[in-house]
Amino acid sequence: MSTVNVALIGYAFMGKAHSNAWRQVTPFFAPRLTPRLKVIVGRTREKVEAAARAYGWEEAATDWREVVERPDIDIVDVCTPGDSHAEIAIAAARAGKTVLCEKPLANDVESAERMLAAAEEAGVIHMVCHNYRRAPAVMLAKQLIEDGRLGEIRHFRGTYLQDWIVDPEFPLVWRLRREVAGSGALGDLASHTIDLARFLVGEIREVSGLLQTFIHERPLPDKPNQRGEVTVDDAALALVRFENGAVGSIEATRMAPGRKNYNRFEINGSEGSLAFDLERMNELELFLRGDPPETQGFRTILATDPTHPYVDAWWPPGHIIGYEHTFTHTIYDLLEAIADGRVPQPSFVDGVRTQRVLAAIERAAASGTWQQV
Ligand SMILES: NC(=O)c1ccc[n+]([C@@H]2O[C@H](COP(=O)([O-])OP(=O)(O)OC[C@H]3O[C@@H](n4cnc5c(N)ncnc54)[C@H](O)[C@@H]3O)[C@@H](O)[C@H]2O)c1
Repeated sequence: MSTVNVALIGYAFMGKAHSNAWRQVTPFFAPRLTPRLKVIVGRTREKVEAAARAYGWEEAATDWREVVERPDIDIVDVCTPGDSHAEIAIAAARAGKTVLCEKPLANDVESAERMLAAAEEAGVIHMVCHNYRRAPAVMLAKQLIEDGRLGEIRHFRGTYLQDWIVDPEFPLVWRLRREVAGSGALGDLASHTIDLARFLVGEIREVSGLLQTFIHERPLPDKPNQRGEVTVDDAALALVRFENGAVGSIEATRMAPGRKNYNRFEINGSEGSLAFDLERMNELELFLRGDPPETQGFRTILATDPTHPYVDAWWPPGHIIGYEHTFTHTIYDLLEAIADGRVPQPSFVDGVRTQRVLAAIERAAASGTWQQV
């Protein structure tokens, strides 16, 4: 069995989630390639060394440029904020590495397109981390739609709601600064919903858009008695029209008290409906018009049967899985794609398409008109 050496850039939230996935994938899934947690990279020596110890990386480094050039590195995993995705991913691709990049792929369409071009020119394997596709219940939804169980798809209703910035005294972290994050709830949350919509329903052709910032100034993280300007949206809404004739709505906000990670969608077709909520991620709600009338109704499928995607590698039926498993599934599919020599999905192609939808929503919001993607 051959080994692939991984370099991971960024050691905080996603750095921790991805480290866990790189560690868990071999014992549970036995991929053909065994990842070796070679080096984790951050800007502060002390902190990145602590992360390396905590998460099981062999080495810690502070210069990602040097690391992505190293001949002993095979895969570069980008877990930094959006303003550095393009620079790191392009350098890694040109150095011939497989690149896994966190979402949204970039902070603007032009950067995302440059990333895709660099990866294709170098002939390397590329993937964007829209991990929610890989919840077993979401994969089951995909299978049901592809098998035609819902008939012709007519509606997609996606909401991604959180509440962590509802307090006006919450500091001006990087996610609230356009030059680092690109956008607010739009790129952070709606990018996931758009990816799910594209995955499950199809390409989005045109959009309307509404972006709202409710709290315009917040305390600076390192100087709490000074305030700085919030330069991204707090909430993003769009109506969307799909190429296949379906219509939809997308809403993302980090200002919905009580909603912690309410990544929910409902899909209605001519023959039935299904609904998913990440906060109950082992379940898929399904309604089929073809069921006998006397027992018709939404049923809740517990997607933990060995026949459901990915579940076989974990636990017996009903022994539920969680958020972190979606990353392990992503890493497993990436490793298998590398072993096969093919580009997995969602790739940078998907990242670019989602970025175009995000940009169209911004144009629609600024102009008050519908925009073609
Ligand atoms: N897939 C998901 O569900 C999901 C969830 C959260 C975040 N994300 C994405 O992951 C990325 C990182 O988000 P996060 O929540 O981990 O942020 P975070 O603030 O928790 O961590 C960011 C890390 O990047 C490092 N960093 C920042 N700039 C850097 C640079 N120029 N060079 C090297 N290191 C740098 C920071 O030191 C930190 O370790 C973002 O693109 C975000 O949108 C995805």
